Amino acid sequence: MIATVLAHPHTGALPHSFVVEEPQSIILRHGTLSDLETILHIGLTAMPMDPQWNYRFPHRRAFPQDQRDATRRRYREFLEDERRYSVWIAEALGAGGLIPVAFAVWDISNLTGGASRAPKAPTLKTTQSVRRDAEPKRMQAWKQILQEAKAQYFQSEYGSRQIQLQILATHPKYQRLGAGSRLVNEGIQFAEASSKAISVFASPMGRRLYSKLGFKTITSITVQAGGETESVSVEAMVYEPEYRIHEQVKNEQARDRSRSGAPIWLSGTEAVRAPSHAAFPEWQSAML
Ligand SMILES: CC(C)(COP(=O)(O)OP(=O)(O)OC[C@H]1O[C@@H](n2cnc3c(N)ncnc32)[C@H](O)[C@@H]1OP(=O)(O)O)[C@@H](O)C(=O)NCCC(=O)NCCS
Repeated sequence: MIATVLAHPHTGALPHSFVVEEPQSIILRHGTLSDLETILHIGLTAMPMDPQWNYRFPHRRAFPQDQRDATRRRYREFLEDERRYSVWIAEALGAGGLIPVAFAVWDISNLTGGASRAPKAPTLKTTQSVRRDAEPKRMQAWKQILQEAKAQYFQSEYGSRQIQLQILATHPKYQRLGAGSRLVNEGIQFAEASSKAISVFASPMGRRLYSKLGFKTITSITVQAGGETESVSVEAMVYEPEYRIHEQVKNEQARDRSRSGAPIWLSGTEAVRAPSHAAFPEWQSAML
């Protein structure tokens, strides 16, 4: 068992005797609006490690407030729009208590019908003006190419039988402790229990983790804005549940599980219940 001393993600300070043993001391819970500043802090420290972040937001150091404001608005949407997104927080448990170290955002709109909502305004605007941290041409290219790739590689093949991992981020001081894997594993348990696939556009750091957990690469996608030489690549990856079974059988199994009293993993119209061994008592009320 490896023991690691952890610093506080907000202050960088080392709590007295804050020792975490991995991986049993990583605890997951459903995120709520009160977690907004926490996930914002984790996201703004972790995401610059992903090349697409610097590609899309090359002026982030010059305009940190624009970056913070626009990211906060986006993350607020994740936490507020429960028909479309499910947010999970990983907390490390140590002698000093629980400390949030990572989060995952799942797009569950294929399960709930949440995608039929009117699309939100693009993220190029701050409340006052165009966000100055971003490169508009790259933002546009990113959005268009990934939308096309999503339709071609994910929607056409898996349709409503999938959830998409939208964001996975672990605070840099807490990486390699298993928090990212725990968050993805919860999705895998849900996928296995409900015969859904998981799709993701993976960064280089994410790709290693997903491969280890059984995701397969479908293709590599390169984003390049017109007239530029810079580009960035992501991998379209998918996790398929072990048993790809007929829709009717899946529905029967979901009904059986829903009778068994195990906690609900996702909220929404298609309530599918998670395996009972994945249970934390507080989830049930949080997800209902
Ligand atoms: C990807 C990320 C979420 C992983 O989080 P994490 O909590 O460190 O993940 P884990 O501790 O569960 O690591 C799982 C495995 O991923 C691989 N991995 C993760 N980070 C790695 C790194 N920096 N170098 C090499 N392998 C790495 C390893 O195989 C690791 O297993 P190991 O530690 O047993 O070797 C984190 O690195 C991160 O926030 N990166 C920046 C944002 C990003 O790229 N997100 C993914 C978007 S798709």
